[in-house]
Amino acid sequence: MRKPNIAILGATGVVGREITKIIDELKIDFNEIKFLSSAKSAGTELEFQGKKYIVEEAKPESFDGVNIVLASAGGATSQKFAPEIVKRGGVLIDNSSAFRMENDVPLVIAYVNDEDLKKHKGIIANPNCSTSQLMLVLKPLHEKAVIKRLIVSTYQAVSGAGLAAINELTANTKASLAGEDFENKCFKKPIAFNVIPQIDVFCDNGYTKEEMKVVNETKKILHLAAETPISCTAARVPVYNGHSEAVDIEFEKDITPDEVREILKDSFGIKVIDNPDNYEYPTTRDASGVNPVFVGRIRKNLAFNNGITLWCVADNLRIGAALNTVRLCQKVIEMNLY
Ligand SMILES: NC(=O)c1ccc[n+]([C@@H]2O[C@H](COP(=O)([O-])OP(=O)(O)OC[C@H]3O[C@@H](n4cnc5c(N)ncnc54)[C@H](OP(=O)(O)O)[C@@H]3O)[C@@H](O)[C@H]2O)c1
Repeated sequence: MRKPNIAILGATGVVGREITKIIDELKIDFNEIKFLSSAKSAGTELEFQGKKYIVEEAKPESFDGVNIVLASAGGATSQKFAPEIVKRGGVLIDNSSAFRMENDVPLVIAYVNDEDLKKHKGIIANPNCSTSQLMLVLKPLHEKAVIKRLIVSTYQAVSGAGLAAINELTANTKASLAGEDFENKCFKKPIAFNVIPQIDVFCDNGYTKEEMKVVNETKKILHLAAETPISCTAARVPVYNGHSEAVDIEFEKDITPDEVREILKDSFGIKVIDNPDNYEYPTTRDASGVNPVFVGRIRKNLAFNNGITLWCVADNLRIGAALNTVRLCQKVIEMNLY
């Protein structure tokens, strides 16, 4: 197998650091690797696999000879560099929302819709974090019973909003406990001891962009009909890392909670923890820092025919961003798509 030259764009960010860790964990076999950021962090020294690297400022010529770029530097940066990467024959695996819904850009969760990767024209998009953790759960259930309707409520950690948001939760909590005033910058409301029912900006239909990402990206990844009813409410909670989701699914065919447990128990990337009698169900503390998507509280939904309700928890920086990005890189190498 050929070995690619790899670049991490946004290497100094929350997701970029996680990507770097996971490249090592998944033993991605590369020829050369480089780490790119904005001018702000350029010159930072970084240690990777026992070698020291200097982070470089991303410029068009940084992508000369690079085969695969793993980007988590925001939508504007991806939009700026995508043509430069593609022009030079590289493949961009992008974490931002810039290209996700474009027709000729595959939106892929590894092990869910890998075949879509073959359609790439230089750009592959990584889904939004709340969508990502749900796909590994829904795909095997959809194969068995066919999704008819879906309602998702998210409880999202601050790490999903980057390093500054993590720091704001700490500072806001300290200020609240000390009874001091605090000016929130990352969030519209104080995040300490609070739940904020807004992630991203509002759309004309009253939903937020984050909520509409779950709706639209789910349909694209699972190849659902455009008219499939899906609704989402996304809330930010004062948790450092790990998104939780309450999920209500109506299926075309009958499916029991026991069947769901059985299917998910054997599904790639899923770990079922579901024994309420012993207070066994997943929480974000189980999920932070590890790869599985945890599922519990599997029960019959009382409002839908053929309905199932479940609770799903995952590390948003891993499956929701960095882990899937690196798995996509692995697939692109294995499937010889660069
Ligand atoms: N956090 C998540 O859970 C998550 C999940 C899915 C997708 N994403 C997406 O991933 C991206 C990064 O998120 P994050 O949480 O890692 O943010 P972050 O912690 O703020 O890091 C941003 C990174 O991008 C770099 N950057 C910013 N502007 C740049 C430019 N003009 N040229 C080159 N590099 C630039 C920064 O470099 P400096 O250090 O020099 O500023 C830093 O390395 C965003 O698009 C976000 O939407 C995040």
